[in-house]
Amino acid sequence: MVNLKVISGSSRPGRFNDQPVAFVAEVAKMVPGVTVEVVDVAVLNLPFLDEAKPPMMHDYAHDHTKAWSATVTAADAFIMVTPEYNHSYSPVLKNAIDYLFTEWNYKQVGFVSYGSLAGGARAVEHLRGVAGELKMYDVREQILLPNYWEHLDSAGKYQFTDRHKDSVVGLVKELAFWGEAMKEARAKLVA
Ligand SMILES: Cc1cc2nc3c(=O)[nH]c(=O)nc-3n(C[C@H](O)[C@H](O)[C@H](O)COP(=O)(O)O)c2cc1C
Repeated sequence: MVNLKVISGSSRPGRFNDQPVAFVAEVAKMVPGVTVEVVDVAVLNLPFLDEAKPPMMHDYAHDHTKAWSATVTAADAFIMVTPEYNHSYSPVLKNAIDYLFTEWNYKQVGFVSYGSLAGGARAVEHLRGVAGELKMYDVREQILLPNYWEHLDSAGKYQFTDRHKDSVVGLVKELAFWGEAMKEARAKLVA
């Protein structure tokens, strides 16, 4: 089984983020071969990076870092669900990412984004650069929700379609395949 963590990318009160995160997690659970867990950055509630030693040293002083390290270590692959803020991804996601290094290495990552016309595309392009530095393998499959507010019903619920569902299934299948295939290689790489 591939341990897939869906990481939220907003901690804002009233955030839209909850909706794509819930949808992605629900659909991902239907894909065979993966276990799915949501990591909510609002619940994680990490302070601004407060470790004296760089994450490459893997010598953490704080319990919140040790707990976050254990969560990411347990994962084989990730889906990051990010808004676009000023043509990039959110600071709360950056902060959570920057806490760790080796825990991310040699693992797959896929992206779901939303925003105005570009649907968060610019945020994800920045995340792909960060993934490279973390020795992560970003997959091509991507879900974008442009002008998401135009697709809300009167209760404020986003109207996900079968096309979105198929896209999430495609993304998760890719992550599941490479997540499984990379387990053996990763064990050699980190030995
Ligand atoms: C600080 C800030 C900057 C934003 N910049 C962009 C942007 O550059 N591009 C975009 O598409 N949307 C932008 N938006 C709109 C967000 O996509 C929208 O507010 C979205 O709901 C934010 O995600 P959240 O509700 O999950 O926090 C911005 C929103 C905020 C709060």
